[in-house]
Amino acid sequence: MTHSQKEHSVDQSTTHTETATSRRSFLRGGLAIGSAGAIGAGLLANGLPAFAAEKSSDITQGDIAILRFLAAAEIIETDLWRQYNELGGIPDSEVPGGSGSAPYITALEVLDGDMSQYIHDNTEDEISHFKFINAYLISKGADPVNLDKFRTLPSSQVTGAQNIGRITNLMQLTVDTSWWTKYRSRTKNPDFGDTFPQAIPALSKGQFPAIPRNNADLNSPDHVQAIANTAGFHFAFIEQGGTSLYPSLAQRVTDAEVLRILLSIGPTETAHFQTWHDKAGNAPPLTDPTNGLVFPNLNAPPFGGEDFQTNLIMPEPTVFLSRKFPACSIIRPTETKGAAMGALKALTDDGLFIGQSKEFFAVLHTLAVQADEAQRGY
Ligand SMILES: [Fe+2]
Ligand SMILES: [Fe+2]
Repeated sequence: MTHSQKEHSVDQSTTHTETATSRRSFLRGGLAIGSAGAIGAGLLANGLPAFAAEKSSDITQGDIAILRFLAAAEIIETDLWRQYNELGGIPDSEVPGGSGSAPYITALEVLDGDMSQYIHDNTEDEISHFKFINAYLISKGADPVNLDKFRTLPSSQVTGAQNIGRITNLMQLTVDTSWWTKYRSRTKNPDFGDTFPQAIPALSKGQFPAIPRNNADLNSPDHVQAIANTAGFHFAFIEQGGTSLYPSLAQRVTDAEVLRILLSIGPTETAHFQTWHDKAGNAPPLTDPTNGLVFPNLNAPPFGGEDFQTNLIMPEPTVFLSRKFPACSIIRPTETKGAAMGALKALTDDGLFIGQSKEFFAVLHTLAVQADEAQRGY
């Protein structure tokens, strides 16, 4: 596929003018090649979404758009979790690649002795999420999502990492740690416009590695611990994002089976989040001697007290839908309007895409716009 053809595909996917003929040729091409990953060199491949009107079993354009945005999000999650697994998890046949970094694993284990297992299992889950959603899209005659052409960012140079192109950058993160206070508030909700203080203010401002960038990063134990602490808070940031994204988008799904997919995957993101919420609370207070990054004692002022105990890992009840109702223990936020674009902005602000091309941002923007245009019944 030529560059101009790819751009044409991206444009066309916004116009909703696909014909049955082109859909059939896409299906033939897909079957001939034999796997979703091999279809075309571009991310949107060469086919376009099918339409509800064409066949009664088909899903709506809106459902396809929502699933395609989620597939992209899951590919992004997989790319970042694979990097964590190579160095801090358990490389094996389920999650291949890398050979581990002993100093990094030792530092992660300060947060919990099972960190490597949890990193592995979270990674395996993300792989299963994007593969399932893409396979489901194909089964409905719709395009899977393929971001392989954007695997252009460098790997860590530390011993234990694979040296391959990445979609995401884990070495310049600006981690939003307000999930810590958001889930502990009894009176505020982001869906009411409320904002929440950062648990680790310094981490939300600068740019910090969440994996060792090279072997020199392993020289200072406190620096390695700061990197592991950063990862610990980043794990929870990523998974609380997924925890909100699925229920937010589910409100605009039309087909009951597509709704079932969102309602079945979303809570696994919540299972991840709660695990990471628990582990982040064990990150030891310290100051990174190489860059001054401070991890404060979260059991001391301005935190501390019953609602800020580091062993609180379940959501506190808070205001939901209207202040006239009693407080409710809920996922937050779940506002559906603009949910996909909000997720994309959060990932971008996180620094995950530093170094990515303009085309990458354009493609992700298009997928988010289409997902946010989806409405129930369309
Ligand atoms: Fe996921
Ligand atoms: Fe996830």
